[in-house]
Parts: sequence; structure tokens; C-alpha cells
Amino acid sequence: MTERYQITVNDQHVVVAEAGLSIFDSLRNAGYTMRFSCRNGVCEICKATLIAGSIRQRYPELELQLTEGDQPSQIFACTAVPYSDVRVRIDGLLRPGELRVKKLVCSIAAIEQLSHDVYRVRLHLPVTGRHAVEFHAGQYLEMILPDQRRAAFSIGSAPDFSSDIELHIRRLPEGEMSIAIMEHLQNNPSVEIELPKGDCYLEAGSLSAETTIILAAASTGFSQIKSIAEHLLANQVSNPIHIYWGARVEADFYLEKLPLQWAAEHSNVHVHLVVSEPGNSPGWAGRTALLPEAIVADFENFDNVEVFTSGSPAMVYALLDACEAKGLQDSQIHSDVFAYAPRK
Ligand code: FES
Repeated sequence: MTERYQITVNDQHVVVAEAGLSIFDSLRNAGYTMRFSCRNGVCEICKATLIAGSIRQRYPELELQLTEGDQPSQIFACTAVPYSDVRVRIDGLLRPGELRVKKLVCSIAAIEQLSHDVYRVRLHLPVTGRHAVEFHAGQYLEMILPDQRRAAFSIGSAPDFSSDIELHIRRLPEGEMSIAIMEHLQNNPSVEIELPKGDCYLEAGSLSAETTIILAAASTGFSQIKSIAEHLLANQVSNPIHIYWGARVEADFYLEKLPLQWAAEHSNVHVHLVVSEPGNSPGWAGRTALLPEAIVADFENFDNVEVFTSGSPAMVYALLDACEAKGLQDSQIHSDVFAYAPRK
């Protein structure tokens, strides 16, 4: 029987390796990405640190048997083959689906006012090979001002299109940071950003045919939902997609026609615009509710449903609680809120 060993990397990732396979090949077969070039033990790009376990390295020739507490030793992942369970450290290892974070300067291509306080900002990314940028639909970027203050914004466009990305920025009259950001964008030709960030994203290729998608956004959370919806539509996904956009008043639907157009053009897309303060929306004839209430009212159960949601922590946790009361599992709901505002 072929022997199989465990490779534990950075105390976080455990990969099963068949005997005879290098650490690099085992990680790659499991979907991990790391730096490499020669794959022959020459360029040294794939260097790793062996903390414990036994390896034989083909080139430069080396045999090591370390136990916990021994002095760690440098090895090359491309030619080092484990012959016991091993523990290693590898800098820059990316788990399956994870993209390398890059900092770059992009030009400000356009700024368009969409409502009384929301602006659409288009950034033009450099597209030379060295600076090619990848992100998943639903991820966010950080904008870095010259004084090094940072602010996070969902990327409002899909990764399937062009080298431009779109942000939806609300300028709050009392918001010092949002004012500083808009002033910088309106008075400079370029801005520094760092991306991609965030684990709340969706890849069309990983969807099962039976899954119903709920995309639930409050206010400018629509930006993240727009990126995911455009990605799904660009990949001609036929799963049912329910888009919920909640706002206090009708005037806050700053791109109202866009999701309605998706619904008109795609029979699997259903759009629900929900206003929570109808008294302040004269003429609003649409649905009135809080977003979580509207969603749980529409679904008898949440079997085969994946929810992606973007909004304030209060809204996201209210939605989580309401859906869980109808059987939704934690693993079926995705939001950046769970990372930046974990509930105690
Ligand atoms: S890839 Fe060059 S030494 Fe491993």
C-alpha cells in the first residue's frame, strides 16, 4: 500500500501527501500556490523551513530527521520529499482560491454622482504583466491616502470585465474620512490601493446546479452584491438568484434601474427592493419592511440556499438570526461582517 504522510504548513494547513511526491507537488495537487521557478533545487525561490519530520532532498542532496524542538532547517519544497509526517513553514503560501495581495497606484478614470450622497468612482488599473490584478467577485480593496490612512470599499464591478474597477462611495456630511477620500479623489489624478481582500466572495465555477443564491444588500452594500451578480451573469449561471436591496428611503436606491434590468433580461434573476421608512418616501408603491423580515417571509426554508450579504453588522446579524430560526446553517451565509465585527 502506498504510504501517505501529513504535511502541516504554517500550523494552519494540513495536506495529505503520497510517499515519493515532493512537498511542492503535494501542495500544488491540493490547490495551494507558492512561488517556484526551476523546480530543481537551483533557484531557491521555493525555500521552506523544516520544523519537524523527515525528508530526503534530491538536490542539493540532503537528508534530515528533525524532532520537535530541534533547530529548524532550510529545505527546498520542489525537491524535498517527506518520508514521515512533517511540519514546515512556507512564506507566501496561498490557500486554494486565495489571490496575492498587491499594492498599486491607479488612475482615477471618472467620478459620477449617483444620488445626493453616493458617488461612483472608476479606477483604471495598470495592466502590465507585472501588475496584473486579480480579484474574486465580492472582494474589497483598501484605499490608502497620502497620510497613510486607509478605508475599505467593496469592489463594485465583476472580475470578468476590463481593467477598470468601480467603487460606490457615500460622502457623509459628518464623516471626516469619507470627506477626505472624496477630496483626494476629486483633486488628484491617481490613488493608491491594496487588493484583493476579504473571504466573502463567490466563484461561478464552484456553484452546484441546485443552489439558490440570495444576495442581500443594505445601502451601499449594493456594491459588493453588484460585483457578484455581474460575475454570475457574465458566466451565464442559470441558478435562481434573488437580489434584495434594502434602503431607508426610495432615494437611497442610487442604481435602482440596474438590478431591474437584470431581472428583465434574465428569467432566473428576481429583484426585491425594500424600503424601511415609507413615511419618508412619498410616492413609494413598492415593498415596505426591514430587509431580514422580507427575506424570511419569502422563503419557507433555506435548503440548498447560499446567502451573501453586505450591510451594517446590526443588519447582517439580524438576517443571520432570522434565517437560522428557519433552518439556515452558519456555513450557508457569507459576509465580511463576520470577519471585521465578530459577535461576542
Ligand atoms: S523552484 Fe527553484 S529551487 Fe525550488
